[in-house]
Amino acid sequence: MYDVDPHVAEIYDQVETYTNDVELIRNLIGGRGLLRILEPFCGTGRILIPLACDGHEMVGLDQARGMLARAREKIGRLPAEVQRRITLAEADVLRDEWPRRFDLVVLGGNCFYELATPAEQEHCIVSAAASLRPGGYLYVDNDHMEGDLDESWQKGGVSQGFPTGLCADGTRVESTTEAIWWDAPRRLIRFRRCTKVTLPDGKIIKKEYVQQKHPASAVEVRAWLESHGFTIERTCGDCAGNPYTEASGRAIFWARKR
Ligand SMILES: C[S@@+](CC[C@H](N)C(=O)[O-])C[C@H]1O[C@@H](n2cnc3c(N)ncnc32)[C@H](O)[C@@H]1O
Repeated sequence: MYDVDPHVAEIYDQVETYTNDVELIRNLIGGRGLLRILEPFCGTGRILIPLACDGHEMVGLDQARGMLARAREKIGRLPAEVQRRITLAEADVLRDEWPRRFDLVVLGGNCFYELATPAEQEHCIVSAAASLRPGGYLYVDNDHMEGDLDESWQKGGVSQGFPTGLCADGTRVESTTEAIWWDAPRRLIRFRRCTKVTLPDGKIIKKEYVQQKHPASAVEVRAWLESHGFTIERTCGDCAGNPYTEASGRAIFWARKR
């Protein structure tokens, strides 16, 4: 979806403007000093850039060239000393090995929604463990859904979806999404998605594809962390850092590699 056309990255930045998770990460880092941080699924740098500006050394991985190009554009406008602290790499986080010896790995912004199965999500926890030095931290942030696939997800019909919007150069991006299959007990769902990009010269780029998602539960994430060498130090239910409860909107884990 992110590589249909580079304009998708511009729409992403128009839509995803929240910063409260960056504040939470800052609070969780607290007085631990300046860290070496890995952010797989870094996208256009919504989380990575502010942390680099704080003084941390950042490495970002993403498979979408359009998202990385926009991140590089924004990084190019930063002071040279901040730019020197940032490395971006094009990588498929499922296929490629993650770099090593980090103090913190950030799996933020619901990035598990990018993956099709619980096995792929668990693979990321395993890769994060390999990337961290002993005593390093993992931040994992997901929407909160336990039990069966939430009923609000179990309905068909075509609706407007991400990415949709108008770019500065007049390019129009329009997308639709339609749930076409789900398995409620396994919390698996497939969407037919269609994105149409109309460039200022009238040229149209169209892509249709099927995407499968698995909303990870807090029970699953906790079990993966515990079985791959992590001790969970905090579980937050929102980006304000309030404690996680069954009614929380999010399940955010801050875990230390043993
Ligand atoms: C929702 S964006 C999140 C970006 C950023 N973490 C944030 O919170 O703003 C998800 C990003 O994950 C990337 N992505 C999805 N699957 C990936 C994979 N298998 N390997 C690397 N990147 C992937 C997409 O290209 C996209 O840029």
